[in-house]
Amino acid sequence: MTIAVLPGSFDPVTVGHIDIATRAATLFEHVIVAVAHNSAKTPLLDGETRLALASAALEPLTNVTVEATSGLLVDFCRDRGATVIVKGLRGGADYDYERPMALMNRSLTGIETVFVTGDPALAHVASSLVRDVARHGGDISPYVPDAVVAAVAEATHRAR
Ligand code: PNS
Repeated sequence: MTIAVLPGSFDPVTVGHIDIATRAATLFEHVIVAVAHNSAKTPLLDGETRLALASAALEPLTNVTVEATSGLLVDFCRDRGATVIVKGLRGGADYDYERPMALMNRSLTGIETVFVTGDPALAHVASSLVRDVARHGGDISPYVPDAVVAAVAEATHRAR
């Protein structure tokens, strides 16, 4: 059985993430969505909330599970018996961002990263833009599951 890990900050989970997880679920027997900490970012939502929202959003995908992880991604992959990391690409900028991580992860343990191209209709959907739209009072409901709207509004209000 090929187990793939789909890691990210999921701050918050978006319809773009759901699209990638859905595609990954058709390629691998089991996909573990790993809600991780990116040391280059200060998240809007705490880890528990990011995990809960991603778990609820991906619950309909029967071969996808969602877990929190801290520490090195490659260690998490080894512990779970995962032989592949899967990432979504919206375009060239994503590839430029992802390539060094894919190379570093391969250098660390030999694990390969497989890139899945997302739905072009969702190419503008990014957690960072969702947070920015929310911060400025815009409607984020087209870009995230319903439960995320209230959680982001609350966290945005608290951060003011
Ligand atoms: O959604 P993001 O913020 O682009 O995801 C980046 C993430 C969390 C996948 C990356 O920062 C990561 O893998 N963090 C775990 C720590 C780690 O393994 N760092 C080395 C990566 S080469």
